[in-house]
Amino acid sequence: MTASREIKEPGRGRIRVQVPATTANLGPGFDCLGMALDIWNQVEVELSSAPLVRVDGKGGTDLPSGPQNLVYRSIVHLLEHVGVEPPPLSVACTNNIPLKRGLGSSAAAIVGGLTAGNRLVPILSGGRVQSLSPEEVLQLAVAIEGHPDNVAPALMGGMVLVVQGNDGLLTSAVPVPEDLRAVLYIPDLTIATEDARSVLPEGIAWEDAVFNMGRTALLVNAMNTGRLEDLSTATEDKLHQPYRRQLFPAMKVIFEGAMKGGALGVFLSGSGPTILALRHGREVTVAYEMAEAARQASVPGEVKVTRPVSTGTICSWHEEAGAG
Ligand code: HSE
Repeated sequence: MTASREIKEPGRGRIRVQVPATTANLGPGFDCLGMALDIWNQVEVELSSAPLVRVDGKGGTDLPSGPQNLVYRSIVHLLEHVGVEPPPLSVACTNNIPLKRGLGSSAAAIVGGLTAGNRLVPILSGGRVQSLSPEEVLQLAVAIEGHPDNVAPALMGGMVLVVQGNDGLLTSAVPVPEDLRAVLYIPDLTIATEDARSVLPEGIAWEDAVFNMGRTALLVNAMNTGRLEDLSTATEDKLHQPYRRQLFPAMKVIFEGAMKGGALGVFLSGSGPTILALRHGREVTVAYEMAEAARQASVPGEVKVTRPVSTGTICSWHEEAGAG
């Protein structure tokens, strides 16, 4: 029996979506560069007699458990966007991406919800309405999130350059060297992206724009050519990190700790406060120095070593044991 026939009966099968964490900006690429990381959230959706959201893991006790939950709202948004009546759904979220730490948790919620909603479209409409294309899902995700640099890599995987072209969003995949690793210092402190954007100035100096343009290009080329020795310069930034330091003064010493430990480059992940250092080999030394700098600055948090992932959002169908 097909998935489309099964899901119409509550409890017969479910859609599973897995979405990676993402790091945005990578230093100079403000609002236009992002990269998927090997930390995953999972969303499972099935028909239900009443709307319900269960959240396990990160944010489990804080996130809404009803239709106001961002994952649920994103499913409904997509269905309404294409003109399909949303039925009551049961949504189970298993979250591994920490919230409000600059690791793309809200992008993951939006992308997870939209992807599940998109899979439901032909099922609920009996094939009358087609699912959106990946480009249309991206456009919708950006409209909800506000900026594209987390949602694009969350959907596509890998490192992605994303710009607003005259005819819509243009994405371009940047190859990442296989052995590159990301060392994260994830402070306990949370910073909402809107707060981290509110400290940015209205205008910027020409020389700062030039500083970042050159480094963004250098960063993309360093990844393309494998010239990783360029990363220490290529991850520098003058457009957002210097202003965001007021929200998180200890970032300076944790950056210094990462470089002392041998990082190839270090930057604020998205709008922070997570700090991400790049390295291939001896990641433990980088992790140790970052944690030590944070300890001396009295910034509690956790260190995590992960890797960029080339896989983006995965959507699959799961039938209940014994169903059918
Ligand atoms: N580029 C955004 C910012 C973060 O730095 O505010 C994530 O989209």
